[in-house]
Amino acid sequence: MTTFPKDFYWGAATSAYQIEGAWNEDGKGESNWDRWSHTPGKIKGGGSGDVATDHYHRWRGDVDLMQQIGLTAYRFSIAWSRVQPDGRGPLNPKGVAFYDRLIDALLAAGIEPFVTLCHYDIPQVLEDRGGWVQREFTDWFADYAAAMARQYGDRVTHWMTINEPICISDDHYGGAVEPPGLNDPQAAATVTHHLLLGHGKALQAIKQTGGSHHQVGLICNLYPIHPYRGPALNPAVGNEVARTAFDPGLKNSDAPLTDEDTLAAVRIADDNINRRWLDPIFWGRYPAGLWEQRGYWPAVEDGDMDIIGARPDFVGVNYYHRFVVRPVRRAGKLTFTMVTAKELGAPCTTMGWEIYPEGLHELLTTLQADYNNPDLYITESGMAMDDPVAEDSAIHDDYRIDFLNAHLEQVARCLADGVKLHGYFVWTLMDNFEWEAGWGQRFGLIRADYDTLERTVKDSGRWYRDFIATHRSEFNGEERQFA
Ligand code: FCB
Repeated sequence: MTTFPKDFYWGAATSAYQIEGAWNEDGKGESNWDRWSHTPGKIKGGGSGDVATDHYHRWRGDVDLMQQIGLTAYRFSIAWSRVQPDGRGPLNPKGVAFYDRLIDALLAAGIEPFVTLCHYDIPQVLEDRGGWVQREFTDWFADYAAAMARQYGDRVTHWMTINEPICISDDHYGGAVEPPGLNDPQAAATVTHHLLLGHGKALQAIKQTGGSHHQVGLICNLYPIHPYRGPALNPAVGNEVARTAFDPGLKNSDAPLTDEDTLAAVRIADDNINRRWLDPIFWGRYPAGLWEQRGYWPAVEDGDMDIIGARPDFVGVNYYHRFVVRPVRRAGKLTFTMVTAKELGAPCTTMGWEIYPEGLHELLTTLQADYNNPDLYITESGMAMDDPVAEDSAIHDDYRIDFLNAHLEQVARCLADGVKLHGYFVWTLMDNFEWEAGWGQRFGLIRADYDTLERTVKDSGRWYRDFIATHRSEFNGEERQFA
């Protein structure tokens, strides 16, 4: 049996908009995601997070379930529009009190709170003023971070500034499918810089307000990038989502492509997807040639890269799959496109994401080697499947057990190889609202019945409980039972 360190955090993760509901209760302001989901045609199936899984009212029962599973950490996000409806100025006491209660209940249950400050949702009033495109937004974000550190910093010491900045820059602003859906490649470049600057300023603000013992990190969705070397592909089956997100208007061309092009495409993809975030926060600079390759530049002011390059206490890695890429040319320029799991004929989830556990080890050992062995957490790891309810009313999700088991084996390999990995958070605690994909994707350890809002622990939740208990028993011998 593998030994995990005694202080290794066993967690699950969620985000505010995906589970809370109560979108306009107790003084909460409108968020960008409220506005977006209320706009016809934006969400698959027309759903919204108005009620979500009603965690705002059912939080106590949810904390009980976390305790029964034996989690030692819970990652959740604060809805900025709930605690500060106008994005600036006075806090909303009832919104603040919600997270006070949650944090207190977690601590009483022996569960360490890991708080994300921005998991995509921002107050709509600030979006109306340009959102992340505005440089001023980075100051508003840092002020909000300071306010949260002032409010909760006596009990919370693990903070994550921003979740998956690439999704905000490239999908929310550079793409058309998430709010505000600007579909503007220049905005994607500007927002990239503002996200990093906002992260750097928030890190400083939390330390200044809460003290230097606070642990502050950025969460990135990172991927090993592999070259495609298989037979010719039918361009009609391409990954249109990835293709438009990274390079709007990309079309295959007949220009002959070489092996060198394939390797160049891998580097371009790695720079755009992974190193665009990691090089600035660890080294205070963007990958050489990144903006030239994109053809759009952000405005970088004196001193920005020093603020961004203040090494974070940790990086949160959301690991879901690898990317297999192949080169394409657009207007004579070399770039990359993704080869889908379907094209590869590889096993995948209902999201269409390839199941590729060994990529976790490859990714983390690369970070270890390239960025001077940083402190890391796996802040999201999980799979969506249809999860039918069986005749015995249980959810026999053996595939998820296999998935988690395989990924935790890779975690163990990383630890054995000296990676400074401090915790693993399953995405997600309970089935929830999957952004523009609506209510169709079930990722949870716990099933949520979307009609009755009743929770049922899936077989994978029970398996995770046993796994955690086994690996902690050598330290404390605790036994946990479901009520
Ligand atoms: C990540 C997001 C999370 C969830 C999972 C499936 O990109 O951080 O909110 O949507 O994917």
